[in-house]
Parts: sequence; C-alpha cells; structure tokens
Amino acid sequence: MATPERQFSNNGNLPPYIPVSEGMWLSRLQPTDEDAQDFYEFCRKNLEFLEGHHEDYPRDVVSPQKAKKGIEDSAAHSILLWGIKTTDHQGLAGVLSLEDQGEGVYEIGVGLDEQMQNRGVATSSMNALADAVFTAGGRKLVAKTDPTNFRSQKVLSRTHFTFAYKHPDGDFVYELLAQG
Ligand SMILES: CC(C)(COP(=O)(O)OP(=O)(O)OC[C@H]1O[C@@H](n2cnc3c(N)ncnc32)[C@H](O)[C@@H]1OP(=O)(O)O)[C@@H](O)C(=O)NCCC(=O)NCCS
Repeated sequence: MATPERQFSNNGNLPPYIPVSEGMWLSRLQPTDEDAQDFYEFCRKNLEFLEGHHEDYPRDVVSPQKAKKGIEDSAAHSILLWGIKTTDHQGLAGVLSLEDQGEGVYEIGVGLDEQMQNRGVATSSMNALADAVFTAGGRKLVAKTDPTNFRSQKVLSRTHFTFAYKHPDGDFVYELLAQG
C-alpha cells in the first residue's frame, strides 16, 4: 500500500524546509511530538479567530495527541501542512495547507496567528510556497475564499492570484499558473 508520502505527485521535490526571508521560514509539519505540540497550541490559541474562515478548520485539535492525528490524517488525504516560523515569535506564526488535487494542481490555504497579522507574513510565506511548488513541477495553484473575506482577497491579489470563478458553494476561487 502506498504511504501517504507517496500519494503526492510532486511531494518528493518539495523540501521540508523553505526559507522565506531573513528570520522567517516554512517547516513541513510532521507527526512528531514537537510539531504536534506547536500545532495544538496554534489551533487552540486561534480557534475563534480562524474557525469562521476555514470550512476544514480542525476544531477537534483539543490535545497534542489529536494534533498529531490531524497531521497524519491530512497527509493521508494528500494535504501537506506547513508551519510558518519566525525568530521573533514563539510557536507557529501561521499555518499553510497544500492539497494535492492531481495533475499538478494544488489548493493552498493560509491562517495566521491573530497577533501576526499586518506584517506581510502571509504574503511572503505564500510567495515562498508557490515558488517551491512551481519549482517542483506544479502547474497551478488554486485558493478558495469566502466573498466577504477581503483580507484574504488582498493577500491573493498581492501574490498575483487572479479571480477565476464562483464555486457552487458560494466561495470565490482564485488561481495562479506557473510561469512559462
Ligand atoms: C487572511 C490573512 C492570512 C491575511 O493576513 P494579513 O496580515 O492581512 O496578510 P499579510 O501577512 O500578507 O500582511 C499584509 C498586510 O500587512 C501590511 N504589511 C506590513 N508590513 C509588510 C511587509 N513587510 N510586507 C508586506 N505587507 C506588509 C500590508 O500593508 C498589508 O496590510 P493591508 O492589507 O492593510 O494593506 C489573515 O487575516 C488570517 O489569517 N485570516 C484568517 C484565516 C483566513 O481568512 N485565511 C484565508 C482563507 S483560506
């Protein structure tokens, strides 16, 4: 049986560590005790802030053990989670998700620690992950957002995504194609 790792068409080329800028980097969340603790603390701290924006927000991350299971279950569903880390913030500054939809298409999602908004963290980390995906051979990134989520739409514009269509569930779908 294929391991979760092997279900990703381009996963082999996506590095576990992606530098973003001085003092900021992305780290693949693994089902280790340390990552599970970080993910748990991030989810609990930002539950109220984030849950309205993510239909898949992991409300059940009520312990480090559940966080570890959440990381494992995500991978089993072809979703990689990346922690956004900075030298000036304890714990995760944010989390990026990347769902492999096949044929080089990936859906990207982002949520910040509420305290880390308004600093360009989402913009710069999404740019870095997009570069890594396209370098690894990805063809297209898509992002879904609620029509009323203007902050999210501003980040998508800043990272050069363009509006593609309105999903039947009401969300706006944005796309970013690999260059060339
Ligand atoms: C959506 C979300 C990620 C946006 O966060 P954000 O802080 O607005 O985005 P960034 O980290 O890119 O910061 C950009 C803002 O910081 C400002 N900024 C400050 N320093 C900056 C820098 N060095 N570089 C870029 N922008 C900077 C920008 O001017 C911008 O503010 P503006 O939009 O008022 O012009 C955040 O609000 C969030 O986590 N929301 C909840 C989850 C969610 O909605 N996710 C999206 C749906 S999947």
